[in-house]
Amino acid sequence: MRKTMHACCVPSGRRFIVPLMVVGLISTGILKLPMFNTSPKPVMVLVDPHHRERVHSFVRSVLAKECRPSFTRRRIESIYSSSVAEPFLQKNSNLTEQIFEYPPPFGFRNLQHKLKEILDLLPISLSEKTGGHDCRRCVVVGNGGILRGLELGPLLNQFNVILRLNSGPVRDFSRDVGNRTTIRMSYPEGSPKIWEDVDPQLWFVAVIYKSVDFNWLHAMISRATVSLWDKLFFWQKVPNSIPVDPSRFRILNPEIIRETAFKLLQYPNPKLRRWGWDQNIPTLGVSAVNLATYLCDEVSLAGFGYNLSQKEMPLHYYDNLPMTTMLKQAMHNVDHETVFLQRLIAAGSILDLTGGVHCSFCST
Ligand SMILES: *[C@@H]1O[C@H](CO)[C@@H](O)[C@H](O)[C@H]1NC(C)=O
Ligand SMILES: *[C@@H]1O[C@H](CO)[C@@H](O)[C@H](O)[C@H]1NC(C)=O
Ligand SMILES: *[C@@H]1O[C@H](CO)[C@@H](O)[C@H](O)[C@H]1NC(C)=O
Repeated sequence: MRKTMHACCVPSGRRFIVPLMVVGLISTGILKLPMFNTSPKPVMVLVDPHHRERVHSFVRSVLAKECRPSFTRRRIESIYSSSVAEPFLQKNSNLTEQIFEYPPPFGFRNLQHKLKEILDLLPISLSEKTGGHDCRRCVVVGNGGILRGLELGPLLNQFNVILRLNSGPVRDFSRDVGNRTTIRMSYPEGSPKIWEDVDPQLWFVAVIYKSVDFNWLHAMISRATVSLWDKLFFWQKVPNSIPVDPSRFRILNPEIIRETAFKLLQYPNPKLRRWGWDQNIPTLGVSAVNLATYLCDEVSLAGFGYNLSQKEMPLHYYDNLPMTTMLKQAMHNVDHETVFLQRLIAAGSILDLTGGVHCSFCST
């Protein structure tokens, strides 16, 4: 959910104007490129030990219960009557016309050729499952400051599938967030500049928000260099390499984002505006939750929830941006997403381990 605030797109017609404007703004000092080299450092926060123990005993109780096969996906389908054929695209995918109807992130309009080039680099079939269990319990680890000081790392490590977002670091933060990563889901600008994940079975799930993201992904899989020209179209520095085996790359089916936006969040159908979409792009976090419902039998969240009334709280577990940074973004409707997640949590369809969206264990 975090760091997705600029996760968007420049309509392709503006390709030439935008880089020039960006260069202009940088040189006049109006646009400061944020957060480039700020290497994340652990920050101590005081957490009420009673609260920490309550969180730990809740997570332990979740892990001790028997895993329910297909539980979360069945719940979602019973509420929203919607499902997507496959979460990742592959060479032998049945690509529906719908996929090419919308521009990214909802589809790949006019991008048939770029998609094919990428799929040709990936293994023929991706039918292999992740997590290695019959019934898989997943945790989607958001990047929220709420994780700080909870010391949940060893418990999070016990989930079958651990899905992390963007550059959410592990090395200096394993006490709070664990050190295993089964899936890292990201778009180019959000991807780690310093790679820390060591699990050999990891999948890197790429999310395409704009046409040039395909060029970056192509370069990452084939270990090539991103062209200087392409680099002009990213709003933040992008990594020069993603050191995982080419067979570990996955490309998210844009139908997952479309389903998240128009079925689960029930946004009206998209109207393309001058500078992007009308607050109808789901955050990476809520898209990851939907992806997890396809990959896992039970889905839990950790590190989710922006409480904008806690202005002194840090936005992320790994830096010192204030919560109010979130107010400045215009792409996502965070309140709407919160209500959506709260409903699922209150109904028991997904679990909120850290209680930042809806705390089901706080009043006891
Ligand atoms: C595509 O559709 C065919 C026929 O319906 C089916 O046999 C095949 O498994 C599908 N491929 C994938 C990757 O789902
Ligand atoms: C995580 O940390 C534990 C304890 O320090 C260590 O034994 C294990 O190898 C680490 N795993 C990964 C994937 O880094
Ligand atoms: C947000 O923070 C306020 C002030 O601390 C608190 O009263 C409220 O319950 C919090 N909301 C959630 C959803 O945790």
